[in-house]
Order: sequence, then structure tokens, then C-alpha cells
Amino acid sequence: MAETKSLGFNTRQIHAGASPDSATGARNIPIYQSTAFEFRDVAHAARLFNLEEVGYIYSRLTNPTVSALQERVASLEGGVGAVCCSSGHAAQVMSLFPLMSPGKNVVVSPRLYGGTVTQFSHMIKRFGWSAKFVDFDDVDGVRAAIDEDTRALFCESIANPGGYVTDLEVVGKLAQELGIPLIVDNTTATPYLCRPFEFGATLSVHSTSKYLTGNGSVIGGAVVDSGTFDWSASGKYPSLSSPEAAYHGLKFHEALGPMAFTFYGIAVGLRDLGMTMNPQAAHYTLMGIETLSLRMREHCRNAEKVAEWLEGHSGVEEVTYAGLKSSRYYERGKRICPKGLSGLFTFSLKGGYDACVEVVNKVSLFSHVANLGDAKSLMIHSASTTHRQLTPEQQEAAGVKANSIRVSIGIEDAEDIIDDLSQALG
Ligand SMILES: Cc1ncc(COP(=O)(O)O)c(C=O)c1O
Repeated sequence: MAETKSLGFNTRQIHAGASPDSATGARNIPIYQSTAFEFRDVAHAARLFNLEEVGYIYSRLTNPTVSALQERVASLEGGVGAVCCSSGHAAQVMSLFPLMSPGKNVVVSPRLYGGTVTQFSHMIKRFGWSAKFVDFDDVDGVRAAIDEDTRALFCESIANPGGYVTDLEVVGKLAQELGIPLIVDNTTATPYLCRPFEFGATLSVHSTSKYLTGNGSVIGGAVVDSGTFDWSASGKYPSLSSPEAAYHGLKFHEALGPMAFTFYGIAVGLRDLGMTMNPQAAHYTLMGIETLSLRMREHCRNAEKVAEWLEGHSGVEEVTYAGLKSSRYYERGKRICPKGLSGLFTFSLKGGYDACVEVVNKVSLFSHVANLGDAKSLMIHSASTTHRQLTPEQQEAAGVKANSIRVSIGIEDAEDIIDDLSQALG
């Protein structure tokens, strides 16, 4: 489908980026399992390499199955383009890569998936980049942390391990005022529940391994560009505004306008970093994404019921679900994610760590895995696993406690999920 933006979300999650295969009529997007694509002639090859014509060269850069997913995710998020990557973590690096250079920093919320805190605290330093962690609820603190070398702001819309919602309205306004791109990890909320670009975000990133695929089958990621940021205005983004030595001097922004970031991500980012999504993964995600809205509605409905039930249990100290009226993020959650607060949250137990161990060992419907966003209900003790590499201070800032369990509520019958928790909690 060429023009899909005016169609509704349910229609686009099934049709955007895809039409019957022109060669065979295959109704589903085939898995184009090909490393390379034949050029018509030398001039055709040169035009493709010059970005004068869009087409397929080599699957590290572009592949028809992956392109269909890119178009679909971009359409659902309301962006102009997307770059699919080998994982959510790869997508985070790919979102920063065109913006950063040695000595530059990104101002980051501490309420993030533990792996992201580690990636930003340690790994990116090897590129000469750094992260400044600041509480995004303290907008003056965020403003104060931004300096001449800041090239982006980064946060999660609904933060893993759940229960916290970033005030994207406030942070988006600040980013626009200061001319700094806001990058939102929209993995937990998905484009169905949260629209970061409507709050002023420039880019969104996703771990497509989670709700977008929705069945725990493949690892992948995506960076989506709103197409609204002026990469040339401040002179701070030379990879996009100045002649790019790594691409025969092309000025991406001048040549490609709103598609500059996406083309740069593919032509330079994927070409040189090689964090490419494979067509099998793209196929599974395309299949899963067709039911995204239906699943998210069920995840939210079930999570609300389970969170309410947990809140009433005598052994439970606290439930962090932002969809609960008792949550301090309830009103904000309704503003930022009006259709629901997803299926991820934590609950803490009065019995401490030992009680957590007992519950995790006793559940049978829940799977004890390091994942979220599956149709199946999942559970993990975050402090000893997903957020283990964090310092105690970082864990506290991320909302991870020794006596809390993270749950990703699936789309089974809510009564069965509650029964399983009931027998495990005793
Ligand atoms: C919110 C969030 N962002 C990013 C990631 C990283 O994604 P991936 O595992 O696909 O690299 C995760 C993984 O759990 C996550 O929960």
C-alpha cells in the first residue's frame, strides 16, 4: 500500500507496507531469503548506490521483507521512515549513531530497562559518548543537565520494569524549546497506546522482540523518525547536515529532507555497523503486528484486573501499575497513554526476597523468563536478573526493589492468571 497514513490503526497494522507479491501473488509478504539483489545494469546499480533510486542492493542494507516491516512500524508510529535492526539494543545505538560523536552526551532518564542503563553507563563510552542520568520528573534538572555537547534526550514512555510513565508532554516541550531531539523507547507502550511524536519526540525506538511481535519468537528492533526535526538549524548534527565523508560527501538533510535520518541509518548506519534485522525475524514480526491493537487491549484489561487483585492481597506491599487509581502516575498515564497502561508492572511482597523466590518458584501458568510483551504471562525477579548489573542507587532510581517481582501480564483468561498468583502467594 503506498499511502496508508489516512487509514485507521487496525487497518494499517495489517496492510501498511505490504501488498500481494507482484511476482507470485503471494498474499503474505514472502521471506526474501536473499543476500543480494540483481541490478538491471550498471547505471541502475550506480543510481541505487547514489540514493537516486530506492531499491535493493544487499540485505545488510535493505531487504524487501524488512522494508515492509519498516514501512508498517513507521506508519503505526506516525513517522516518515524506520530502520529495523537486529535487536532493541541495536536500535538504541542506531538512534544515537547519526547524532553523536566523541565528547557528546545524551541526557537520559534513570527509569529504564536495566540493559539500557548498562549500555548507556558503560558501552557507549567506548564510542567516546556519555550519558547523564537525570530524573525526568524534575524538568528543571533535565534543563540544567543539557549543555553545549548534549545531542539527545532519551527516556522510555512506560518504563520497564513498569509502573512509571514519563511526562512526554513536558519533556517533549522542553526538547522542542531547546532544539534537542527527544528519543523515546516506546517498547512497553507500543504505538497503539502511546504516540511519542504527538508530544514532540523526534525519534522512537522499539524492541520489536516484545509486544510488536507479541509471541516471544524473534529478536529485533526499530528506530522510527518523525521527520520533523531540522537537522541543519543548529550545526550540531554534521553527519546529517554537512558533507558526509563516509558517503562521498552527500549532505543527507539537504538531499533527502525529512527522510535524511532514515536514509543515513540505512546507508551509513546499517552499512557500517551491520546491526541488521534478518528477513525471517521481519516476517514473524509482520505476522504478529497484525493483531497488535487487539492484543494490547487484552493486555491492558488483564493487567488492570490482576493489579487490582494483587493490591487487595494481604501479602502484597505495593503494586506499581500506573493503571491503578492508587498510582501516583494514574492521571499522567491517562494523558500519555489514554488507551491503557500496557501489561507490565511490579508488585512487592511484605515477606521480602524469600517470599519473591517462593512465588516465582510456585507459579505454573506464568513462565519464569527474561522477557516481556509475550501473549503468555511472564514473571521475573528484576533485581537479581534484568537489572542486576545496576548499582543499588541505579536500581532504586529504576524502581527495582529486592522484594519486588516484575510481571508481564499475558492475554490468557484473567481468572486463570489470578488463580495462578493466588496459589503461589498462598
Ligand atoms: C524497554 C526495553 N527496551 C529495549 C530492550 C532491549 O531489547 P532487545 O532485547 O530486543 O535488544 C528491552 C529488553 O528487555 C526493553 O525491555
